[in-house]
Amino acid sequence: MNRTLLIAANWKMNSPPEGAFSKGSPYVPYEGIDVLVFPTFLYLKQSLDAGICTGGQYGHPDSHGAHTGDISIAMLKEIGCTHVLCGHSERRQGHGETNEDVSRQAQAALDLGLHPVICIGETAKQREAGEAESTVHTQLSALPLHSDITIAYEPIWAIGTGNTATPELAQTMHAFIRSLLPDQSREKIRILYGGSMKPENAEELLLKEDIDGGLIGGASLKPDEFATIVSIASSL
Ligand code: PGA
Repeated sequence: MNRTLLIAANWKMNSPPEGAFSKGSPYVPYEGIDVLVFPTFLYLKQSLDAGICTGGQYGHPDSHGAHTGDISIAMLKEIGCTHVLCGHSERRQGHGETNEDVSRQAQAALDLGLHPVICIGETAKQREAGEAESTVHTQLSALPLHSDITIAYEPIWAIGTGNTATPELAQTMHAFIRSLLPDQSREKIRILYGGSMKPENAEELLLKEDIDGGLIGGASLKPDEFATIVSIASSL
């Protein structure tokens, strides 16, 4: 099956890059591939108004209530977001999100008609202990795998470190993840790679059979680099 590549920008807790919402922005939809941006909550509206396909970096599964500091997935939907990032490793580590929390977020998104992009991936310690596969297996087991979701495999040791996974290692993990998906969704679900993807390594990663796009942090904050990755993806 031919899966359309998806290039997603995760701006994390950073201001939008210069020119992101202006004419000529590299973050708007691009021919032949899907482009998606996760800005901070403060910039969701501007991003949507600029014609960017936009998602929240997190959303609470409850629609409203006593959750100080949170924003609900229902509110993301209300403002016009189509996607939500679930279970990024920085949320799992910094906010104690468990596999069950992430699953609830993904299910709430699906119930509301939003598309969840769900992050999984092992730490360096888990990889060294030979537990990379069992870790992602456990993370996956909690998820609604029969549904229309996107998975982002992000080895934690590769995030923001410059230590990208080799294309071979990434492909092995992606193929393993795909093998765990149910028959009906195995060929449909996109599996993105995340972890120091940049113009220099994007092509060799994106050429791999089971890598269906990228979730890009650092390089997504540099419009030129992001534009290069988008153009590489659309040329494949
Ligand atoms: P990075 O971040 O590209 O800076 O490694 C990826 C991510 O955390 O989604």
